[in-house]
Amino acid sequence: MASDIDRYELIWIYLCAAVLAGLFGVLLYSAFGLGIHVETDVGQIHPTQVATTAPFDQPGLRQVGPDEYEAVIVARAWVFDPPEIRIPAGSTVTFKLTSLDVIHGFKVPRTGINRMIIPGQISVVTHRFDEPGTYPYICHEYCGSGHHIMNGGIVVEPR
Ligand code: CUA
Repeated sequence: MASDIDRYELIWIYLCAAVLAGLFGVLLYSAFGLGIHVETDVGQIHPTQVATTAPFDQPGLRQVGPDEYEAVIVARAWVFDPPEIRIPAGSTVTFKLTSLDVIHGFKVPRTGINRMIIPGQISVVTHRFDEPGTYPYICHEYCGSGHHIMNGGIVVEPR
């Protein structure tokens, strides 16, 4: 009887160890195989100096080339500045993002754009918008009582 209990206990110990090893493997794969990581190499900015440091001192959309734009967006509880950008279809937009206060998110459904906006860090993501329409951007990191209303939009106008 005593040896039965030992055997079951041992099975559970192995099972728990296997789950931990599996999760650790997933962690290693996502970090090194898929390259998912916090964007520490893009740039850093002190949250108190966002309003006086280029390009974040002038949030908004700028054309930087034919069909190429740069969208500088500052996140704070609970708005994106600017709340809307408009571009013609076929444009490539490089988003430069940072936060004034807490961690926010920047997700644009149907595009694959998905970034954390971390105070002190600059996040950059580029996407080409071929299909006209409205693409909402939403905060998908819980950031306080107004989190659910924190959103903006990209209007892609037909040529
Ligand atoms: Cu900002 Cu949630």
